[in-house]
Amino acid sequence: MDAVTAVAVAFWTMLPAYVPNNAAVLAGGGRPIDGGRTWRDGKRLLGDGKTWRGTLVGTLAGAALAAALNVARPALADATGVALPAFPPVVALALPFGAMLGDILASFVKRRSGRERGAAFPLLDQLDFVVVALVLAALVAPAWFRATFTLPVVLVVLVLTPVLHVLTNAGAYLLGLKDEPW
Ligand code: CTP
Ligand code: MG
Repeated sequence: MDAVTAVAVAFWTMLPAYVPNNAAVLAGGGRPIDGGRTWRDGKRLLGDGKTWRGTLVGTLAGAALAAALNVARPALADATGVALPAFPPVVALALPFGAMLGDILASFVKRRSGRERGAAFPLLDQLDFVVVALVLAALVAPAWFRATFTLPVVLVVLVLTPVLHVLTNAGAYLLGLKDEPW
């Protein structure tokens, strides 16, 4: 697989995992998942930045995007000559839900390390969602995962994701949608 193909496949396949966090920023609010509860250390379990609405809307937005990509795929594959993978229904849910779950787990880790809501945690912030999205996809669709995430594609995902994450969050901050640029 050449480099351009690896980048195209990595970006395409991870789109349903990239969108949920941004959708959650737009849709978030309302009741926090932890209901205001604290952990043994007296600090919040997750914090006010992880809400039911953000998680649900984020997951649905990613799943809807995967469905739309499935529809657009034949024409795009024809036009570009790149064999872009389709998203089986379980994967269309696992990628966005895994992304949201990774972000939630990261908030748990951040709170335990004494970081307040919104504090930066370099690398965890940029890779939490991608790692859990990949693990969940591998669990629900092992054969699809092996066929899609070849070593070059995984490497591109691990390099490309932090770059895109930094750029989109900086953009959301400049647009006034997000309180911090990370
Ligand atoms: N959001 C949400 N539900 C989620 C994830 C995000 O409602 N599951 C919304 C919240 O409004 C949140 C915003 O998106 O404030 C930005 O997300 P993020 O940067 O992940 O949260 P932070 O507020 O920075 O909190 P944390 O320190 O826990 O990451
Ligand atoms: Mg944050």
